[in-house]
Amino acid sequence: MHLILLGAPGSGKGTQAELLAKRLGYTHLATGDLFREAVRGGSELGRLAQSYMERGALVPDEVTIGLVRERLERANPTAQIVFDGYPRKWVQARALDELLASRGEKIDAVILLNVSTPILVERLSGRWVCRAQGHNYHLAFHPPRVAGVCDVDGAELYQRDDDRPEVVQRRIAVFLREIVPLIAYYGAQGVLHEIDGAQEIEAVHRQILSVGGIPKAGSPPRPA
Ligand code: AP5
Ligand code: MG
Repeated sequence: MHLILLGAPGSGKGTQAELLAKRLGYTHLATGDLFREAVRGGSELGRLAQSYMERGALVPDEVTIGLVRERLERANPTAQIVFDGYPRKWVQARALDELLASRGEKIDAVILLNVSTPILVERLSGRWVCRAQGHNYHLAFHPPRVAGVCDVDGAELYQRDDDRPEVVQRRIAVFLREIVPLIAYYGAQGVLHEIDGAQEIEAVHRQILSVGGIPKAGSPPRPA
């Protein structure tokens, strides 16, 4: 079973994908995390990605689709994947369907997390992220046990450059533009589920499990 989490910056895609990975063994594939890893590594891809990310713009499709193709080729063939931050555009969605079809697979559920702009801004301004693996925290809504330190791996927490207010506004505007054709695309396939992403984290998780038809127990999917 493969899932997509759609939603604006700060809607909780990363938070919910982490829960699905931790509790149900899903492989978390987040293009934003892959780009940030490339930026830290100082590769050519990282320099290119940074020039778009720092402005809140989207990295070009051919680069992003190539990165996802390469990541899927490395994934365990039995892995069940939660896509976070990909696809973001209709052309990326179509490319993903083609990539999965070539493996005899498909997207089973697409979850759209609906959250209003004032809440998004509040969440992003209080977000702190684990430098090692991208685990997400919030000063008020999901604080780490020790300030500035990741609960999971003890790494330092930092604030993302693109969480500056002017870049957040740009990212939200890009999201609002691109989400319309994605809703039409997945709506026509009958796999789209919209849920209220403004609920507390555990309530959103429970709703994803119920609308996505995801088994809560039993045989968890094998990780990549
Ligand atoms: P990416 O890293 O994907 O950023 P994003 O989509 O803007 O989303 P965020 O990671 O900011 O938010 P989130 O929905 O994951 O929320 P989170 O769970 O952290 O992409 C970054 C950039 O990379 C893009 O701008 C682009 O340049 C490039 N890129 C990536 N993918 C691309 C693609 N496919 N094509 C082209 N370019 C691409 O939660 C936010 C905060 O809220 C946290 O502090 C969290 O603790 C808190 N929180 C979460 N849920 C709740 C809740 N229910 N209640 C209260 N607080 C909550
Ligand atoms: Mg994220």
